[in-house]
Amino acid sequence: MNLVHTILVDLHSINRWIIVLLGLYVLFLSARGWFGRRAWGQAAEKGSRYFLIALDVQLLLGVVLYFVFLSRQGGFAHVFGNPASRFFLMEHSVMMLLAIILAHVGGYFVKKAQPESKFKRMFIFYGVAFLLILVSIPWPFMPGYGRPWLL
Ligand code: HEM
Repeated sequence: MNLVHTILVDLHSINRWIIVLLGLYVLFLSARGWFGRRAWGQAAEKGSRYFLIALDVQLLLGVVLYFVFLSRQGGFAHVFGNPASRFFLMEHSVMMLLAIILAHVGGYFVKKAQPESKFKRMFIFYGVAFLLILVSIPWPFMPGYGRPWLL
């Protein structure tokens, strides 16, 4: 179980960087497209798809980790007395879940939008989702629950 847990945490941690890079990429594309009044194209379509896939993989890993983490901490009764455990099981999980839902809702609205407003919607929805993600990652400098930059 320890090995499985380590592998899952490592995958979850590595995938964080894929999400950060793809997030920056789609925000760059959407800002350039919106402010430069560019035509909608394949790059934005693909970037958006890969960003959402990376988020879904993270959600899947996160949900499994949630229950492994909970059982290792001895259940909810022990979690709420410990700010670090509470951060992962409440703040982190809930904020990330909201961000992933928001990104998917955004993806839906981008699909439905007229070509001239796709970049704008993409920038706004993905931008807010990305900000939620950035502030909910347990960066090493966060006191109490900081985790390594990679592994
Ligand atoms: C964009 C979405 C997400 C990102 C970028 C992200 C990122 C991270 C990072 C960087 C860690 C620390 C890994 C390490 O210790 O090296 C972590 C831990 C964790 N995440 Fe996420 N996460 C996301 C979504 C989720 C979701 C949706 C859930 C639950 C439903 C979740 C549950 C957890 C749990 C329980 C831990 C602690 C794992 C442990 O130490 O056993 N995460 N996350």
